Amino acid sequence: MIEINTIKGMNEWTKSKKSEKLSVGFVPTMGFLHEGHLSLIERAKQETDLVVMSVFVNPLQFGEGEDFDDYPRDKQRDASLAEAHGVDVLFYPDVEEMYPTPLSVTLKVHQGVDVLCGGSRPGHFDGVATIVMKLLQIIEPEKAFFGMKDAQQVSVIKRMVTDFNLKIEIVAVEIVRDEDGLAKSSRNVNLSSSERAEATKIYQTLKQVKHKALDKHTSDIPGLERWTKNQLKSQLIEGEIDYVQILNFPELTMPTDYEGEMILAVAVYYERARLIDNITWHQRG
Ligand code: PAJ
Repeated sequence: MIEINTIKGMNEWTKSKKSEKLSVGFVPTMGFLHEGHLSLIERAKQETDLVVMSVFVNPLQFGEGEDFDDYPRDKQRDASLAEAHGVDVLFYPDVEEMYPTPLSVTLKVHQGVDVLCGGSRPGHFDGVATIVMKLLQIIEPEKAFFGMKDAQQVSVIKRMVTDFNLKIEIVAVEIVRDEDGLAKSSRNVNLSSSERAEATKIYQTLKQVKHKALDKHTSDIPGLERWTKNQLKSQLIEGEIDYVQILNFPELTMPTDYEGEMILAVAVYYERARLIDNITWHQRG
């Protein structure tokens, strides 16, 4: 594995690999790698000749008072995990390299961002879209790999690719979980042990709702949402619900005809971490 820290260095590498006709898969991350990130590498290795992983904690996607400073970072650990899992290039720029001057042009996401994390983190997806657009221009991959853990991010990035006619395929990869069901997240290290124990209730509740929707044929979406909220409220003592919402996926619109792909997404605040999780299913009318 080689590590590249500059855009110029990355451009040179990309140019030489293109001339060798090798396909490039790209895995963007903010580091502090866990099995979720590693599953994206695995998938990229199956689908492309070479894998570039970026590690960059992007200040543009953090709002005021959010955990940019508190976000866990460990370069040595990330580099050895990336290398052990077969990453060919670790792109590790610093903030100066990515944003030498304040940007004069940024992206603004207009649809699908008044709900879920977009609702509670205004401007977050503008920052995500802007950095992902920059990274895609620098690395020029054939495919980029994103986790369904951040389902709204998948939805936003797919729209961006369509709207800007980018010649790239976005691959969505399933959520990786701990044995007790908690979705892997870099932020899990910021949970206390009692919060960590309690957080398993989140996925247990999501599974119960999917079961109600599919096996019990419950199509009362507002009722399912209410049930989820009440269930979480009664189970979570330390966690505070940010949102619980059922939407069409990937459109992220309010379901009206109760048909097609549905997503139930939740966010829960703990003292030093905000956790998100979701479950999807195909609802028959
Ligand atoms: P980060 O939170 O580091 O996540 C990087 C990628 O890993 C995202 O596509 C995310 O969905 C995926 N991921 C995280 N946890 C996962 C899990 N448990 N299972 C499967 N995939 C998982 O998402 C970002 O960084 C940033 O917004 C980024 C796209 C890098 C732009 O800054």
